[in-house]
Amino acid sequence: MIIIQCTDSSRRRYIAEEIEKYGKGNFSSQIFTFQELSVATQNFNPESLIGEGGFGRVYKGHIETKDIDVAVKKLDRNGFQGNREFLVEVLILSLLHHPNLVKLVGYCAEGEQRVLVYEYMHNGSLEDRLLNIGPNEKPLDWNTRMKIAEGAARGLEYLHETAKPPVIYRDFKASNILLDESFNPKLSDFGLAKLGPIGGRTHVSTRVLGTYGYCAPEYTATGKLSTKSDIYSYGVVFFEIITGRRVVDTSRPSEEQNLITWAQPLFKDKKKFHFIADPLLEGNYPEKALYQALAVAAMCLQEEATTRPLSSDVVTALEYLSTGKSPEESQEEEEDDDHKEEEEEMGSSPDNTTVESTENNSTQDDSSDSDKS
Ligand SMILES: Nc1ncnc2c1ncn2[C@@H]1O[C@H](COP(=O)(O)OP(=O)(O)OP(=O)(O)O)[C@@H](O)[C@H]1O
Ligand SMILES: [Mg+2]
Repeated sequence: MIIIQCTDSSRRRYIAEEIEKYGKGNFSSQIFTFQELSVATQNFNPESLIGEGGFGRVYKGHIETKDIDVAVKKLDRNGFQGNREFLVEVLILSLLHHPNLVKLVGYCAEGEQRVLVYEYMHNGSLEDRLLNIGPNEKPLDWNTRMKIAEGAARGLEYLHETAKPPVIYRDFKASNILLDESFNPKLSDFGLAKLGPIGGRTHVSTRVLGTYGYCAPEYTATGKLSTKSDIYSYGVVFFEIITGRRVVDTSRPSEEQNLITWAQPLFKDKKKFHFIADPLLEGNYPEKALYQALAVAAMCLQEEATTRPLSSDVVTALEYLSTGKSPEESQEEEEDDDHKEEEEEMGSSPDNTTVESTENNSTQDDSSDSDKS
């Protein structure tokens, strides 16, 4: 555990040294001055405000030197009482890189100020696009929903099964899944999420309320955390994606306030499944896919943590749901495509143009793959 007990200037140096040490030269984030970030956000102009969470406000900004849009999270000193969460956030996002984790562009640790600078995600959070949707906004269609669920599962798979040591995300919820301009999902909030309900802080009650319904029963009861508690939270979010309902919604009639208890009786009767689907989908989904999606969500929501699937199992299931094909079928199709390509190449003259165009194709395939993942 990292404990920081020092004065302002030495603390600043300490943070930079710790980050560099852990980053082992792999560190891509930039250190910004507070002045640079004030310029980027026009003095943290309220008009640039794009969101507010338990830790502070998020502003849209522009970094001239890099010519990129960014989201600048200025940590609120009243709710934020230590450096640890700030450090963990910076370290995790500096060490772990995946297309389904948000990118940290840089940070500022000047005086009392703690500011995080992220890549700007054009479509905000899944909560914005799914649960806070305005009357004139187009609802997410079924395929986009499945693509978001698949990408979010890939992010979890990376944290649980690729990262060493594995990382338990702890705060998997709709507001922490950000969406880029093509609705590719990226997980955000790592170090900060870990504060959760621990430590008797003043802002805890709101955070617990906000995150309450997403917590696995064994975590709520005993505080016991595992990758399987993330899977439970994934199941909750997947249910929200299918139903368009918040896990806890006090504005609904009392029997409908908790999504999971509301859905349970409907879930026992196949004929009632269509009541579960988000009415904004207007029935535009393959019926079989709805059954399968509900089955995956239910598996993730099992009371007994050990019987929940692994994140890689969820990815496999979601791959199938988002393409409508089993992994074997996808592989066979890929092989067929390869054969076709080979045959075409054999038929055409093996000059430079052919080689070049094949290379271009393979580059495009790569990029669309990474988009999908
Ligand atoms: N990188 C980003 N690009 C675009 N919008 C963002 C970005 N990061 C955050 N936001 C917006 O800011 C909002 C607030 O984010 P923040 O992480 O501070 O709080 P939260 O996730 O809503 O709540 P909590 O503090 O409980 O985690 C998000 O819901 C999203 O709309
Ligand atoms: Mg968040």
